[in-house]
Formats: sequence, structure tokens, C-alpha cells
Amino acid sequence: MRIVVLGAAAGGGVPQWNCNCAVCRRARAGDPAAPPRTQSSIAVSADGGEPWFLFNASPDIRRQIELTRVLHPTHGRRHSPIGGVVLTNADVDHVAGLLSLREKQPLTIHATPRVLDVLAANAIFGVLDNTMVRRTPLALDADTLLATADGRAAGLSIRLFPVPGKVALYLENASAGPDFGTRPEDTVGVEIRAAGTNRSLFYIPGCAAVPDDLCRRLDGASLVLFDGTVWTDDEMPAHGVGSKTGQRMGHMCMSGPTGSIAALRGVAIDRRVFVHINNTNPVLLADSAERAEAEAAGWEIAEDGMEISL
Ligand code: MLT
Ligand code: MN
Ligand code: ZN
Repeated sequence: MRIVVLGAAAGGGVPQWNCNCAVCRRARAGDPAAPPRTQSSIAVSADGGEPWFLFNASPDIRRQIELTRVLHPTHGRRHSPIGGVVLTNADVDHVAGLLSLREKQPLTIHATPRVLDVLAANAIFGVLDNTMVRRTPLALDADTLLATADGRAAGLSIRLFPVPGKVALYLENASAGPDFGTRPEDTVGVEIRAAGTNRSLFYIPGCAAVPDDLCRRLDGASLVLFDGTVWTDDEMPAHGVGSKTGQRMGHMCMSGPTGSIAALRGVAIDRRVFVHINNTNPVLLADSAERAEAEAAGWEIAEDGMEISL
């Protein structure tokens, strides 16, 4: 399998248009220790060739495609190596990019029924011509062989599974209790396997906790790309850029006894990489103590354009 991190940042990107935090300031100044990062998405191919599938479609998708040679058209007047898109939730940073794929290109879109219902309920997604773009609901914990809209097998098998999280911000129902009406299908992780092999990649860009069953699922994985939104739960309030904690946004922190580094320490994972990293997270700075701590614990911090072969 070939994996390209198209965008390593969380919603807003780095730098974020209205943010003057330390990371955004340094990124804007061109500091090599704080490279810019676009919003959350990866591309995966079974063998490095066509078709590629995108996992999440970020608002930066147009730029991400242009910066990634393997995603460029290669023949005819209209062509794309992109066979389809798999969505892990309905957050703006993961679905808004679909609107930039509206130029009558055959595609498949795979997501849970809950997430597809969100697209169906928003008329603007009707710009994806349904005679070209096929939306396929996927059940949780079932294997699906990815294929292009014209039925060519991608050589990739995926399995969606629920992870602790939160319904999309714009769908929060304040009267539905402390979980804002969240359902298991609202936030999923995805296991991606090259068909016929036992090497698997887990892509989990949003996750609020690591329960035991998730540890068991990840045990033995070749690669895990995991939610790296915040370093500490109170990071946004502590930096004076917002009132929400990581938990309130549906994201677990990296550090400390309740963080993802500790939660996954004992789990056998060959390679562990943080993605969906918020611009306030000091781990983004190559010269920070937090970066050193994460790396010492065996984690890599994704950058845009990072390529991994499995
Ligand atoms: C999140 O990851 O929590 C969301 O992308 C936040 C948002 O919708 O802005
Ligand atoms: Mn997000
Ligand atoms: Zn910032």
C-alpha cells in the first residue's frame, strides 16, 4: 500500500487565517521548524498506481491534489486517478472538499448511513451529480472492497468501526444531553488493508478516548494514523484562543495519564503517526519539548506530503 498524507492539520490548518498563536505566527513567518500544514486528509493506493482513494475531503483539497503528482490527470481531456472518497465523519474539515469535486467526474463516496444522511440533508452536496457520483452506505465492522464508479477493483479492503467522539459541531443538539445527540456512526475509524495481505493501516483522525476494545483492534497493526488534535486537554483556553477543551470537541489529548501516548503505549503497533493536529499544538514545532517527548515515545508527527509504503 502507498499512503500520502495530503493534510496533517486539524480544521483551520496551519497557519489558520485568524490565528496569531505561537505556531501560526512562526508558520506565517516561514520558520522551517513550523512548516504550514493543510487540513485533514490522506490518499491511499494499493500499489502506488490508479485508483487512489481519498480518506476525507478537506477544504484544502484543490491545493492538495495539485501538490500531489500521483493525483493528477494523465490522459484524455478529463481524467482523475481519484476513484472515490471515504468519510470518517461529517465535520466541515472532512466533507467540505467534496464541493470541489463537482466537475462531473465518476466517483464513489463511502461513509456510514448517518454521515451520508448529513450530505443528503444539505442541498449544496447535490452539486455532486448523482449519475456520476455514487454514495455507498457502509455498515460498521464489515469489510468492503473499494471499487471505482465503473466497477474497477482498487485492491483495497476497508472496515469502518466506531470510536468515541462527537457529532459534527453544526449538528450538536444542546437539548439531547451531554453527548449532544451523538450516535456510534457519527465518528468512525477505518482499517485499510491491501486485499489479500495482512498488513493493515488504521486511520483515526478523530477519537475522544481509547477503550480496551480499540487497543485490542489496533494490536499488531503495521501503521496507525491517530488523532493528534491537542497536546493538553485545556490547550485552546490556555493559549487564549477559545473556550473549548479537547474533550468538548471530541478529541483526546496526546500527553499525560489520560492522553493517547499513554493509552497506546502498550499496544503493539509498528509505526504510529499523529495526524489532524490543531495549530495550537506545540508538538507541531520541531524544536519544542513536546515534539521531543512525543518522538521519544515512538510517535511521528505527520507533515503534508509525507509518504508511507506498507
Ligand atoms: C473537529 O475536528 O473537532 C472539527 O473539525 C471542528 C470543526 O468542525 O471546526
Ligand atoms: Mn476536525
Ligand atoms: Zn494558531
